[in-house]
Amino acid sequence: MNWLITGGAGFIGTNFIHHILSSRTDVTIINYDLLTYAGNRDNLKTYEETPAYTFIQGDICDRNQVDRVLRDYEITTIVHFAAESHVDRSIVGPMQFVVTNVNGTATLLDATREYWLNNTAAPSGEKRFHHISTDEVFGSLKPGEPAWTEEIPYAPNSPYAASKAASDHLVRAYGHTYGLPVTISNCSNNYGPYQFPEKLMPVVILNALNNRPIPVYGDGQQIRDWLYVEDHCEAIARILADGKPGETYNIGGINQPTNLLIVQTICHLLDELSPSADGRSYESLITYVKDRPGHDRRYAMDSGKIRRELGWVPRHNLEDGLRMTVQWYLDNPDWVESITSREQFRDWMNKNYAQRGGSAK
Ligand code: NAD
Ligand code: TYD
Repeated sequence: MNWLITGGAGFIGTNFIHHILSSRTDVTIINYDLLTYAGNRDNLKTYEETPAYTFIQGDICDRNQVDRVLRDYEITTIVHFAAESHVDRSIVGPMQFVVTNVNGTATLLDATREYWLNNTAAPSGEKRFHHISTDEVFGSLKPGEPAWTEEIPYAPNSPYAASKAASDHLVRAYGHTYGLPVTISNCSNNYGPYQFPEKLMPVVILNALNNRPIPVYGDGQQIRDWLYVEDHCEAIARILADGKPGETYNIGGINQPTNLLIVQTICHLLDELSPSADGRSYESLITYVKDRPGHDRRYAMDSGKIRRELGWVPRHNLEDGLRMTVQWYLDNPDWVESITSREQFRDWMNKNYAQRGGSAK
C-alpha cells in the first residue's frame, strides 16, 4: 500500500503521518510537499531513515513531477492536504490560493485520472483519492441555526473558503464524470501539536509567553467548532478504510466556544503551567483589535453521518485537548524558535497585526 500524502510537512499532514506510521506496518508513505512557509520537513525527521517513509520536495501544480511520483512509487492511495490554509493571508493575497488550492488540486486529480484509469501499468487493487476540505465552504451560521450537514449548499465567504469550495467541486466532478474513486471530508478548525504559529491558538500561547498583546479580532464572540487534530487523523483513517467512493463526510469536534472563551482558557492554563514572572494573569494581555474583513461569525458541524456510518466520534474534549496543546508548545521551544526566528514569519506577523491597530511583536 503506497500512500501519497500531499502537504505532509504541514500541521495536519504531519500529525496524520505520525498517526499512520505509529499504528500501521502495511503502509508506505510518500510525503510530497513544496515546503512553503508552512511546511517543515523536520517535523517527521524521526522517520527519515525508515523504509516506510520518503520525503519528496515538490509542487502539486507541477504536472510532470506529479506524474513521475505517481508512477515511480506505484501510488494506490492519495490523501490530499496540500493547500494554502490561512484566511488572513487569503485576504491579503488571494491569487496564491487559486493557484495552489484550485490549480494544484486540478493537476493532482488529472494526473491521478490518467495514471489509475484505463492504464494497464497502474497497480491493481482498490484505489482512493481522499481530499481534505473545510467547514468554511458552508459560509457562516446565524444564532440558532442548526449545525451543517453534508447536504447544506456551499456559500464560501473568504478567498480561502472559495478556493477550497472550488477544489471540492473538482474532486466531486472527477468522481462523477470519470469514476475516479474519490472521497471528501470537510472538517472544522483543528488544533494541537505542530500548528503553524499564525493561527489563533499558537498565536495566543506564544504571545502570552513573550508578554505581548494577545490579539482578539472584533468582539471575540465568533464561534468555531474545535477539533483536536488526533481525532481528525482517526476520522480520515476511518474514511480511508470504510468510506464509500463518491461520498463526503463532515468532521467536527463538538466543541463550540467563542474565540474569547478559548483565549481566556488558554491564558488560565498558562497561568497554571507557566506563570508569568510578575505573577499577573496572562488574561491582562488580551487586546481587542480591528476585525477581519468579512469575518464568519459561527461555524458548527453535524458529524452524524460519519458517526452513524463509520463509527467515528472525537475522543478528546476541549479541556483535555487544550491542555495537551499548551503543554506541547511549552515542551517544544526549539520547534517554535525555528519558525518564529524566520524573517519571513516576523514580516507576516508585523504586516497582519500592524494593520489591525494592535501589535503582535
Ligand atoms: P498548513 O498550512 O499547516 O500546511 C500546508 C502544507 O501544504 C505545507 O506543508 C505546505 O508546504 C504544503 N504546500 C503548500 N502548497 C503546496 C504545493 N503547491 N505543493 C505541495 N505542497 C504544498 O495546513 P494545515 O492546517 O495542515 O491544513 C491541511 C489541509 O486541511 C488543507 O487542505 C486545509 O485547507 C485543510 N483544513 C485545515 C483546517 C485547520 O484547522 N488547519 C481546517 C479545515 C481544513
Ligand atoms: P484562525 O486560527 O485563523 O482560523 P480560521 O480563520 O480558519 O477559523 O482563526 C480562528 C478564529 O480566531 C477566527 O474567528 C479568527 C480569530 N483570530 C483572532 O481573534 N486573533 C488572531 O490573532 C487570529 C489568528 C485569529
